[in-house]
Amino acid sequence: MSKYAAYPRGKSVFKNYKVLDFDYVPKELPHRDSQLKRLFTIFSPIADSNVSQNAFLTGPTGTGKTVLSKKFCMEFQDFARKGGKNVQFVLVNCRQRNTENAVMLKILTHFQPYFPDRGFSINEMMESLRKELEKEKAHLIVVLDEVDVLLKKTKSSDIIYHFSRFNEEGIEAKKLLSLILISQKNVLDMLDLPSLSTFKRGNIVKLDKYARDELFSILEQRIELAFHPDAVDLGVGDLISDIASEWGDARFAIELLEKAGMLADENKEQIVNPEHVRAAKAETYSTVTESKLKDLDKNRKLILMAISRSLKKKAYTTTGDAEKMYALVCEEFEEKKLGHTQFWKYLKELDDVGIIQAKKSSKGLVGTTTLISIPDIPAKVLEEKLMRML
Ligand SMILES: Nc1ncnc2c1ncn2[C@@H]1O[C@H](COP(=O)(O)OP(=O)(O)O)[C@@H](O)[C@H]1O
Ligand SMILES: [Mg+2]
Repeated sequence: MSKYAAYPRGKSVFKNYKVLDFDYVPKELPHRDSQLKRLFTIFSPIADSNVSQNAFLTGPTGTGKTVLSKKFCMEFQDFARKGGKNVQFVLVNCRQRNTENAVMLKILTHFQPYFPDRGFSINEMMESLRKELEKEKAHLIVVLDEVDVLLKKTKSSDIIYHFSRFNEEGIEAKKLLSLILISQKNVLDMLDLPSLSTFKRGNIVKLDKYARDELFSILEQRIELAFHPDAVDLGVGDLISDIASEWGDARFAIELLEKAGMLADENKEQIVNPEHVRAAKAETYSTVTESKLKDLDKNRKLILMAISRSLKKKAYTTTGDAEKMYALVCEEFEEKKLGHTQFWKYLKELDDVGIIQAKKSSKGLVGTTTLISIPDIPAKVLEEKLMRML
């Protein structure tokens, strides 16, 4: 049952909640085409000759390492099948299975669902696997995800060694097994020499942090898959991309999208808007803003108040709109308004300390103007906090 089913029934902004799950593999992986092609190039010899291959996928959190490896294995399996070759794959998360035994068991249960979970040595398990692959005339791709955890825990790279020697025994050596290692860190440094000698150092596939616009298109895809048409405000994808671009992390971006949607549902609203995104982020990072606010003088607080008021229904406000709102706020609080130059200077300061985020608008709008948003906290909450302070 999905997490969402726990909420009271009613209208929901979601049409398909499952696609926000981290296990979900979308049909397309925007911005990972070249890496997918690279993997195909590395592994394609398996499909038509008696060889094995290996590769190492590396990159920071949320850059799509896991999803890319799944996508590759699924597509490669299809590709090989069309050429008459049986390719199987097993993906092992080594954070969850951090002993050699647990890894072998996961692989074996792919072929024998009831393989006993104790009583067999690694060598015996390797032999069982070999028999299985020979019987099924299959070539197996083993994906060891987060392999650094396993290597660190076991303090050896024996299992990599076993796998890499798997192919070389016997007289009529059959190449039965290939390996994909995944890790944020460069695990090749963690392998001991014998394992390393069998590992092709050239086959490294690097995944870089996603740029802001790449995150945006990944979000666009998920929004379309997960939400009812028009249930997500236009600024939502923009705001989440801005926030997540600091880390280039698609996982964080999708998490914010999911939380924002849940907040809309909880508030019985039909449209996910930038306020929900800010609230979703605030759930993750809340106390930071509070301490920053304390240090601001009255003028700066009034400017911030004006910005939060003009942001309540949208992702961005312009400096022009903010300044107009600022004039109104000054009247309300019977404060003397600062001049334009001073106002700009303070905006810049607020941007520098990270309370607001300013960026140049993209082409298409009339000229370019500066767009302001508040990344960390819902505008409404910020306004209330400032009200109390003023
Ligand atoms: N290029 C992409 N297109 C669509 N979704 C992506 C892409 N890259 C990552 N994702 C999604 O972002 C989340 C994190 O990706 P994941 O593969 O788990 O990252 P990593 O393993 O590098 O930490 C997953 O939900 C994944 O589906
Ligand atoms: Mg991963």
